[in-house]
Amino acid sequence: MHAAFPALRLRRTRAAAWSRRLHAENVLTPADLIWPLFVTDGAGVEEPIATLPGVSRWSVDMIVHRAKEARDLGIPCLALFPNTPRDRRSDDGAEALNPDNLMCRALRAIREAVPEIGLLTDVALDPYTAHGHDGLVDDRGYVRNDATVELLVEQSLNQARAGADVIAPSDMMDGRVGLIRAALEREGFVNTQIMAYAAKYASAFYGPFRDAVGSRGLLKGDKTTYQMDPSNAEEALREVALDLAEGADSVMVKPGLPYLDIVAKVKQAFAVPVFAYQVSGEYAMIEAAVAAGAADRDAMVLETLLAFKRAGCSGVLTYHAAHAARLLAA
Ligand code: PBG
Repeated sequence: MHAAFPALRLRRTRAAAWSRRLHAENVLTPADLIWPLFVTDGAGVEEPIATLPGVSRWSVDMIVHRAKEARDLGIPCLALFPNTPRDRRSDDGAEALNPDNLMCRALRAIREAVPEIGLLTDVALDPYTAHGHDGLVDDRGYVRNDATVELLVEQSLNQARAGADVIAPSDMMDGRVGLIRAALEREGFVNTQIMAYAAKYASAFYGPFRDAVGSRGLLKGDKTTYQMDPSNAEEALREVALDLAEGADSVMVKPGLPYLDIVAKVKQAFAVPVFAYQVSGEYAMIEAAVAAGAADRDAMVLETLLAFKRAGCSGVLTYHAAHAARLLAA
């Protein structure tokens, strides 16, 4: 054996628990989590979502309890999504502009009961349209960009007036961030943030979410003319550059785990706050593996969330947020 072999043993710092903790390069805390919640009509209602086992839609009164739970767990922010009743969906998604829609009622109720929690709202028309697309559709099924953006601006103002702290456009229309920013400034919402879903891919991982907001059965065709092609990475950097130039405060990459390369590239190129959305299909994959006896939920949840931090995320939207925060508190 060579005398100096091995000069450096990387296992040395791994040998004891105190040392592993001391050398940890990244740490996950409840402050890294954004909890997506689904709102539904009625009172006292909890509706489990079959394709998202463990996740439910809550009526406005019930979602207030979830907000208190989040606050108590140290989760800084909630993301809200409405399950709009079928008879309130239309081709133009006009319900998105109703100041008394589900989203606005949930915002006001949570703001009143838990004033200190951050409230992020999704901007896109798909929970409100009869065809399940994120915007206005022409006779050939193409989603019209500029006409849609006009509605998204109004939708954003509607949410800001109801108390949203973070406007998160998830529609992937061109130019929407700039016009939303200008409208927010004009109306005095100078501290209302924009988290742009900048690099949002046309993904097979959104299925359970579409069940949750009731748009899966309605969706005609797919979203490939506006969401990004999974082949592309350079294009994600161009999307991010545009959204930042238009006034986004932070950017999001979505889905999460299959796109960690994009998170890392965006962080490196722009040095801005980057978030990732561990989407519904990713959640469902973990739960399916657990149900099959193939995985340890707690370990898998914490490992995947830590991976987002390692890749450069400031935070993660995850349906496991409350569970993860409980694990981290233990
Ligand atoms: C709506 C929207 C979607 C998601 C978040 N906002 C679905 C879609 O674009 O079809 C997906 C989130 C998830 O799958 O958890 N524009």
